[in-house]
Amino acid sequence: MKMKAFFVMVLGMLVISGGGAFAGVLDWSKSDVSPADADTIRVFGLIYSGTPGITYNLDFKFNETTLKFEPVLPTSVVTINESKLATADAVRGGVLYDKWWKINGQAEPTSNHPFYPSTGKQSGKDTWRCKECHGWDYKGKDGAYVSGSHYTGIKGVYEARNMNAAHLFAIITKHNLSLSEQDIWDLTRFIKESLVEMDKYVIFNGTQKKSATGDVTKGKTLYENTGTGGGQCIMCHGADGTAIKFDGTEGVGDVANDNPWETLQKIRFGHPGSSPTMPSAVNNGLSITDQNDILTYGQTLPKIAP
Ligand code: HEC
Ligand code: HEC
Repeated sequence: MKMKAFFVMVLGMLVISGGGAFAGVLDWSKSDVSPADADTIRVFGLIYSGTPGITYNLDFKFNETTLKFEPVLPTSVVTINESKLATADAVRGGVLYDKWWKINGQAEPTSNHPFYPSTGKQSGKDTWRCKECHGWDYKGKDGAYVSGSHYTGIKGVYEARNMNAAHLFAIITKHNLSLSEQDIWDLTRFIKESLVEMDKYVIFNGTQKKSATGDVTKGKTLYENTGTGGGQCIMCHGADGTAIKFDGTEGVGDVANDNPWETLQKIRFGHPGSSPTMPSAVNNGLSITDQNDILTYGQTLPKIAP
Protein backbone atom coordinates (compact mmCIF):
# COMPACT_ATOMS: atom_id res chain seq x y z
CA MET A 1 0.00 0.00 0.00
CA LYS A 2 2.61 2.49 1.07
CA MET A 3 4.83 1.60 -1.86
CA LYS A 4 1.92 2.11 -4.23
CA ALA A 5 1.15 5.45 -2.67
CA PHE A 6 4.77 6.38 -3.30
CA PHE A 7 4.43 5.64 -7.03
CA VAL A 8 1.28 7.68 -7.25
CA MET A 9 3.07 10.51 -5.54
CA VAL A 10 6.00 10.39 -7.97
CA LEU A 11 3.64 10.35 -10.93
CA GLY A 12 1.71 13.18 -9.36
CA MET A 13 4.83 15.24 -9.12
CA LEU A 14 5.39 14.85 -12.84
CA VAL A 15 1.84 15.51 -13.91
CA ILE A 16 1.25 18.53 -11.76
CA SER A 17 3.68 21.36 -12.18
CA GLY A 18 4.37 23.49 -9.14
CA GLY A 19 4.26 20.61 -6.66
CA GLY A 20 3.30 22.78 -3.70
CA ALA A 21 0.42 20.45 -3.01
CA PHE A 22 2.91 17.74 -2.17
CA ALA A 23 5.19 19.82 0.01
CA GLY A 24 6.18 17.76 3.03
CA VAL A 25 4.93 14.55 1.42
CA LEU A 26 7.66 13.91 -1.12
CA ASP A 27 10.92 15.52 -0.18
CA TRP A 28 13.57 15.93 -2.90
CA SER A 29 15.74 18.28 -0.91
CA LYS A 30 18.21 15.63 0.27
CA SER A 31 18.36 13.71 -3.01
CA ASP A 32 21.41 13.30 -5.26
CA VAL A 33 21.12 13.01 -9.04
CA SER A 34 23.52 11.28 -11.37
CA PRO A 35 23.31 10.04 -15.00
CA ALA A 36 22.50 6.31 -15.28
CA ASP A 37 22.99 6.13 -19.06
CA ALA A 38 22.65 8.37 -22.14
CA ASP A 39 18.98 9.20 -21.62
CA THR A 40 18.32 8.22 -18.01
CA ILE A 41 18.94 10.06 -14.77
CA ARG A 42 19.00 8.33 -11.42
CA VAL A 43 17.69 10.08 -8.32
CA PHE A 44 19.05 8.81 -4.99
CA GLY A 45 17.52 9.26 -1.58
CA LEU A 46 13.99 10.47 -2.29
CA ILE A 47 12.09 10.80 0.95
CA TYR A 48 8.39 10.00 1.13
CA SER A 49 6.69 10.98 4.36
CA GLY A 50 4.53 7.84 4.32
CA THR A 51 7.57 5.64 4.91
CA PRO A 52 9.82 7.30 7.50
CA GLY A 53 13.38 5.96 7.58
CA ILE A 54 13.07 4.54 4.07
CA THR A 55 14.37 6.38 1.02
CA TYR A 56 14.05 5.55 -2.66
CA ASN A 57 16.40 5.51 -5.62
CA LEU A 58 14.53 5.88 -8.88
CA ASP A 59 15.39 6.28 -12.59
CA PHE A 60 13.81 8.85 -14.89
CA LYS A 61 14.08 8.18 -18.62
CA PHE A 62 13.78 10.88 -21.27
CA ASN A 63 10.74 10.36 -23.48
CA GLU A 64 11.53 11.59 -27.02
CA THR A 65 7.85 12.07 -27.83
CA THR A 66 6.67 13.99 -24.79
CA LEU A 67 10.10 15.60 -24.28
CA LYS A 68 9.81 14.87 -20.57
CA PHE A 69 11.69 12.73 -18.07
CA GLU A 70 9.38 9.98 -16.89
CA PRO A 71 9.87 7.62 -13.94
CA VAL A 72 10.82 4.06 -14.81
CA LEU A 73 8.18 2.38 -12.63
CA PRO A 74 8.22 0.07 -10.87
CA THR A 75 11.36 -1.63 -12.19
CA SER A 76 13.95 0.97 -11.32
CA VAL A 77 12.82 1.60 -7.76
CA VAL A 78 15.34 0.62 -5.12
CA THR A 79 14.15 0.83 -1.54
CA ILE A 80 16.88 1.77 0.93
CA ASN A 81 16.34 1.42 4.65
CA GLU A 82 18.30 4.50 5.65
CA SER A 83 17.36 4.13 9.30
CA LYS A 84 20.10 1.46 9.42
CA LEU A 85 22.73 4.15 9.06
CA ALA A 86 22.17 5.31 12.63
CA THR A 87 23.18 1.95 14.12
CA ALA A 88 25.91 1.09 11.59
CA ASP A 89 29.47 0.64 12.90
CA ALA A 90 31.85 3.06 11.20
CA VAL A 91 34.92 1.50 12.83
CA ARG A 92 33.97 -1.90 11.44
CA GLY A 93 33.49 -0.09 8.12
CA GLY A 94 37.07 1.16 8.45
CA VAL A 95 38.55 -2.33 8.72
CA LEU A 96 36.25 -3.60 5.97
CA TYR A 97 37.70 -0.82 3.78
CA ASP A 98 41.16 -2.19 4.55
CA LYS A 99 40.52 -5.92 3.87
CA TRP A 100 36.85 -6.86 4.06
CA TRP A 101 37.16 -10.66 3.84
CA LYS A 102 39.21 -10.75 7.07
CA ILE A 103 36.28 -9.07 8.83
CA ASN A 104 33.17 -10.66 7.31
CA GLY A 105 34.60 -14.15 6.88
CA GLN A 106 33.82 -14.35 3.16
CA ALA A 107 36.14 -16.25 0.84
CA GLU A 108 39.35 -14.52 -0.17
CA PRO A 109 39.00 -13.39 -3.80
CA THR A 110 41.37 -14.85 -6.38
CA SER A 111 40.96 -13.34 -9.85
CA ASN A 112 41.27 -9.60 -10.53
CA HIS A 113 38.32 -7.36 -9.68
CA PRO A 114 36.53 -6.32 -12.90
CA PHE A 115 37.00 -2.62 -12.02
CA TYR A 116 40.77 -3.06 -11.69
CA PRO A 117 42.52 -1.59 -14.75
CA SER A 118 44.46 -3.97 -16.98
CA THR A 119 47.40 -1.56 -16.77
CA GLY A 120 47.50 -1.86 -12.95
CA LYS A 121 50.52 -3.50 -11.31
CA GLN A 122 48.64 -5.44 -8.61
CA SER A 123 46.79 -8.70 -9.12
CA GLY A 124 44.53 -11.18 -7.36
CA LYS A 125 42.98 -10.59 -3.95
CA ASP A 126 44.58 -7.20 -3.39
CA THR A 127 42.59 -5.77 -6.31
CA TRP A 128 39.44 -6.36 -4.22
CA ARG A 129 40.50 -4.14 -1.31
CA CYS A 130 38.80 -0.74 -1.23
CA LYS A 131 42.12 0.83 -0.30
CA GLU A 132 43.81 -0.59 -3.41
CA CYS A 133 41.64 1.48 -5.74
CA HIS A 134 40.73 4.40 -3.46
CA GLY A 135 43.87 4.81 -1.33
CA TRP A 136 44.82 4.83 2.35
CA ASP A 137 44.35 8.59 2.16
CA TYR A 138 40.93 8.12 0.50
CA LYS A 139 42.09 10.21 -2.46
CA GLY A 140 42.82 7.57 -5.09
CA LYS A 141 44.69 8.97 -8.09
CA ASP A 142 44.80 12.42 -6.49
CA GLY A 143 46.56 11.18 -3.36
CA ALA A 144 49.54 8.96 -2.57
CA TYR A 145 48.55 6.59 -5.38
CA VAL A 146 49.09 9.37 -7.94
CA SER A 147 51.93 7.22 -9.33
CA GLY A 148 53.89 4.08 -8.57
CA SER A 149 52.94 0.43 -8.24
CA HIS A 150 49.50 1.21 -6.75
CA TYR A 151 48.45 3.67 -9.44
CA THR A 152 45.02 2.86 -10.95
CA GLY A 153 43.74 6.21 -12.21
CA ILE A 154 40.62 5.71 -10.07
CA LYS A 155 39.31 8.59 -7.99
CA GLY A 156 39.10 8.54 -4.23
CA VAL A 157 36.12 8.30 -1.88
CA TYR A 158 36.81 11.49 0.07
CA GLU A 159 34.39 13.64 -1.92
CA ALA A 160 31.78 10.88 -1.80
CA ARG A 161 31.31 11.52 1.94
CA ASN A 162 28.97 14.33 0.84
CA MET A 163 26.65 11.98 -1.06
CA ASN A 164 23.45 10.94 0.65
CA ALA A 165 23.47 7.52 2.29
CA ALA A 166 21.19 5.93 -0.33
CA HIS A 167 23.56 7.02 -3.08
CA LEU A 168 26.64 5.66 -1.29
CA PHE A 169 24.85 2.44 -0.43
CA ALA A 170 23.90 1.93 -4.10
CA ILE A 171 27.44 2.66 -5.34
CA ILE A 172 29.10 0.26 -2.89
CA THR A 173 26.51 -2.41 -3.75
CA LYS A 174 27.34 -2.03 -7.46
CA HIS A 175 30.96 -3.04 -6.84
CA ASN A 176 29.78 -6.66 -6.44
CA LEU A 177 32.01 -7.56 -3.53
CA SER A 178 30.94 -10.29 -1.09
CA LEU A 179 29.40 -7.84 1.36
CA SER A 180 26.26 -8.22 3.46
CA GLU A 181 23.73 -5.42 3.85
CA GLN A 182 25.22 -4.73 7.30
CA ASP A 183 28.74 -4.58 5.82
CA ILE A 184 27.56 -2.02 3.26
CA TRP A 185 25.91 0.12 5.94
CA ASP A 186 29.09 0.00 8.04
CA LEU A 187 31.12 1.09 4.99
CA THR A 188 28.58 3.80 4.18
CA ARG A 189 28.81 5.22 7.69
CA PHE A 190 32.60 4.98 7.62
CA ILE A 191 32.71 7.02 4.42
CA LYS A 192 30.11 9.54 5.52
CA GLU A 193 31.43 10.16 9.02
CA SER A 194 34.93 8.82 9.63
CA LEU A 195 37.18 9.92 6.78
CA VAL A 196 39.79 12.47 7.77
CA GLU A 197 41.55 15.01 5.57
CA MET A 198 44.94 13.26 5.62
CA ASP A 199 46.80 16.30 4.28
CA LYS A 200 46.26 17.95 7.66
CA TYR A 201 48.21 15.19 9.40
CA VAL A 202 50.71 13.99 6.82
CA ILE A 203 52.63 16.41 4.61
CA PHE A 204 51.90 15.47 1.02
CA ASN A 205 54.51 17.42 -0.98
CA GLY A 206 57.97 18.91 -0.75
CA THR A 207 61.05 18.05 1.29
CA GLN A 208 58.97 17.19 4.36
CA LYS A 209 56.84 14.77 2.31
CA LYS A 210 55.34 11.96 4.46
CA SER A 211 56.22 13.68 7.73
CA ALA A 212 53.44 13.60 10.30
CA THR A 213 52.55 16.94 11.84
CA GLY A 214 51.79 15.96 15.46
CA ASP A 215 53.55 16.31 18.79
CA VAL A 216 56.26 13.67 19.39
CA THR A 217 56.32 14.06 23.18
CA LYS A 218 52.58 13.65 23.56
CA GLY A 219 52.72 10.81 21.06
CA LYS A 220 55.29 8.92 23.14
CA THR A 221 53.12 9.23 26.25
CA LEU A 222 50.08 7.94 24.35
CA TYR A 223 52.05 5.13 22.68
CA GLU A 224 53.17 3.92 26.09
CA ASN A 225 49.92 4.51 27.99
CA THR A 226 48.22 1.14 28.42
CA GLY A 227 45.21 2.56 30.27
CA THR A 228 41.86 3.82 29.02
CA GLY A 229 42.46 6.72 26.68
CA GLY A 230 45.98 5.48 25.92
CA GLY A 231 47.20 4.12 22.59
CA GLN A 232 48.33 0.84 24.25
CA CYS A 233 50.75 0.24 21.36
CA ILE A 234 53.60 -0.71 23.67
CA MET A 235 51.69 -3.77 24.93
CA CYS A 236 52.03 -5.55 21.61
CA HIS A 237 54.64 -3.67 19.59
CA GLY A 238 57.12 -3.02 22.41
CA ALA A 239 58.78 0.26 23.39
CA ASP A 240 60.73 0.53 20.14
CA GLY A 241 57.96 -0.82 17.86
CA THR A 242 59.84 -3.96 16.85
CA ALA A 243 58.25 -6.63 19.05
CA ILE A 244 56.05 -7.75 16.14
CA LYS A 245 57.85 -7.93 12.79
CA PHE A 246 55.48 -7.24 9.91
CA ASP A 247 56.31 -9.41 6.92
CA GLY A 248 59.09 -10.76 9.11
CA THR A 249 61.21 -7.64 8.74
CA GLU A 250 59.44 -4.37 9.59
CA GLY A 251 58.61 -2.56 12.79
CA VAL A 252 56.22 0.32 13.53
CA GLY A 253 59.04 2.77 12.66
CA ASP A 254 59.30 1.35 9.15
CA VAL A 255 55.59 1.42 8.36
CA ALA A 256 55.00 4.81 10.02
CA ASN A 257 57.69 6.37 7.80
CA ASP A 258 57.10 4.44 4.59
CA ASN A 259 53.32 4.64 4.65
CA PRO A 260 52.06 7.18 7.20
CA TRP A 261 48.56 7.17 5.63
CA GLU A 262 48.21 3.43 6.12
CA THR A 263 49.57 3.73 9.66
CA LEU A 264 47.07 6.46 10.57
CA GLN A 265 44.21 4.41 9.13
CA LYS A 266 45.34 1.38 11.20
CA ILE A 267 45.80 3.44 14.38
CA ARG A 268 42.25 4.72 13.89
CA PHE A 269 40.46 1.47 13.02
CA GLY A 270 42.81 -1.46 13.74
CA HIS A 271 44.40 -4.11 11.57
CA PRO A 272 42.03 -6.69 10.02
CA GLY A 273 42.62 -10.23 11.18
CA SER A 274 45.39 -9.31 13.65
CA SER A 275 45.97 -11.67 16.54
CA PRO A 276 45.78 -10.43 19.23
CA THR A 277 43.24 -7.96 17.85
CA MET A 278 44.78 -4.52 17.43
CA PRO A 279 42.39 -2.04 19.06
CA SER A 280 40.85 0.96 17.30
CA ALA A 281 41.87 4.33 18.71
CA VAL A 282 38.53 5.73 17.51
CA ASN A 283 36.70 3.11 19.58
CA ASN A 284 38.97 3.87 22.52
CA GLY A 285 37.96 7.52 22.41
CA LEU A 286 41.29 9.00 21.26
CA SER A 287 40.93 12.19 19.24
CA ILE A 288 42.43 12.61 15.78
CA THR A 289 45.02 14.87 17.39
CA ASP A 290 46.02 12.03 19.77
CA GLN A 291 46.13 9.59 16.85
CA ASN A 292 48.32 11.91 14.82
CA ASP A 293 50.64 12.41 17.82
CA ILE A 294 51.08 8.62 18.00
CA LEU A 295 51.82 8.47 14.27
CA THR A 296 54.35 11.30 14.68
CA TYR A 297 56.07 9.46 17.53
CA GLY A 298 55.94 6.25 15.48
CA GLN A 299 58.06 7.98 12.84
CA THR A 300 60.86 8.44 15.41
CA LEU A 301 61.02 4.70 16.19
CA PRO A 302 63.86 2.68 14.67
CA LYS A 303 63.60 1.43 11.11
CA ILE A 304 64.75 -2.16 11.06
CA ALA A 305 63.93 -3.42 7.57
CA PRO A 306 67.07 -4.36 5.62
C1 HEC B 1 39.08 -2.64 -8.39
C2 HEC B 1 38.92 -1.27 -8.00
C3 HEC B 1 37.92 -0.90 -6.96
C4 HEC B 1 37.75 -1.44 -5.71
C5 HEC B 1 38.44 -2.64 -5.10
C6 HEC B 1 36.76 -0.64 -5.05
N1 HEC B 1 36.35 0.36 -5.88
FE1 HEC B 1 35.05 1.84 -5.43
N2 HEC B 1 35.16 2.55 -7.33
C7 HEC B 1 35.93 2.00 -8.33
C8 HEC B 1 35.68 2.71 -9.56
C9 HEC B 1 36.31 2.42 -10.91
C10 HEC B 1 34.73 3.71 -9.25
C11 HEC B 1 34.13 4.75 -10.20
C12 HEC B 1 35.01 5.96 -10.17
C13 HEC B 1 34.57 7.05 -11.11
O1 HEC B 1 33.37 7.33 -11.18
O2 HEC B 1 35.46 7.65 -11.73
C14 HEC B 1 34.44 3.58 -7.84
C15 HEC B 1 33.61 4.45 -7.14
C16 HEC B 1 33.41 4.39 -5.77
C17 HEC B 1 32.71 5.38 -5.01
C18 HEC B 1 32.12 6.69 -5.55
C19 HEC B 1 33.19 7.75 -5.63
C20 HEC B 1 32.69 9.05 -6.21
O3 HEC B 1 33.05 10.12 -5.66
O4 HEC B 1 31.95 9.02 -7.21
C21 HEC B 1 32.68 4.95 -3.71
C22 HEC B 1 32.05 5.64 -2.53
C23 HEC B 1 33.39 3.69 -3.67
N3 HEC B 1 33.83 3.40 -4.94
C24 HEC B 1 33.56 2.93 -2.54
C25 HEC B 1 34.24 1.71 -2.51
C26 HEC B 1 34.31 0.86 -1.35
C27 HEC B 1 33.68 1.15 -0.01
C28 HEC B 1 35.04 -0.23 -1.72
C29 HEC B 1 35.34 -1.47 -0.90
C30 HEC B 1 34.23 -2.11 -0.24
C31 HEC B 1 35.47 -0.03 -3.08
N4 HEC B 1 34.94 1.15 -3.53
C32 HEC B 1 36.31 -0.88 -3.77
C33 HEC B 1 36.84 0.99 -8.19
C34 HEC B 1 37.01 0.22 -7.06
C1 HEC C 1 46.61 -5.94 21.31
C2 HEC C 1 47.81 -5.85 20.51
C3 HEC C 1 48.04 -4.61 19.69
C4 HEC C 1 47.97 -3.29 20.06
C5 HEC C 1 47.58 -2.74 21.42
C6 HEC C 1 48.35 -2.51 18.90
N1 HEC C 1 48.65 -3.34 17.86
FE1 HEC C 1 49.31 -2.79 16.03
N2 HEC C 1 49.15 -4.68 15.39
C7 HEC C 1 48.94 -5.78 16.20
C8 HEC C 1 49.01 -6.99 15.39
C9 HEC C 1 48.86 -8.41 15.91
C10 HEC C 1 49.24 -6.57 14.07
C11 HEC C 1 49.36 -7.45 12.82
C12 HEC C 1 50.77 -7.93 12.68
C13 HEC C 1 50.96 -8.80 11.46
O1 HEC C 1 49.97 -9.36 10.97
O2 HEC C 1 52.08 -8.89 10.99
C14 HEC C 1 49.33 -5.12 14.11
C15 HEC C 1 49.57 -4.32 13.01
C16 HEC C 1 49.98 -3.00 13.09
C17 HEC C 1 50.43 -2.21 11.99
C18 HEC C 1 50.40 -2.67 10.53
C19 HEC C 1 51.70 -3.07 9.99
C20 HEC C 1 51.57 -3.59 8.57
O3 HEC C 1 52.13 -2.99 7.69
O4 HEC C 1 50.89 -4.59 8.37
C21 HEC C 1 50.79 -1.00 12.48
C22 HEC C 1 51.35 0.19 11.69
C23 HEC C 1 50.52 -1.01 13.88
N3 HEC C 1 50.03 -2.25 14.23
C24 HEC C 1 50.74 0.04 14.76
C25 HEC C 1 50.17 0.11 16.03
C26 HEC C 1 50.11 1.31 16.84
C27 HEC C 1 50.74 2.64 16.45
C28 HEC C 1 49.42 1.00 17.97
C29 HEC C 1 48.97 1.91 19.07
C30 HEC C 1 48.05 2.96 18.67
C31 HEC C 1 49.08 -0.42 17.89
N4 HEC C 1 49.54 -0.89 16.70
C32 HEC C 1 48.43 -1.13 18.89
C33 HEC C 1 48.68 -5.76 17.54
C34 HEC C 1 48.48 -4.63 18.31
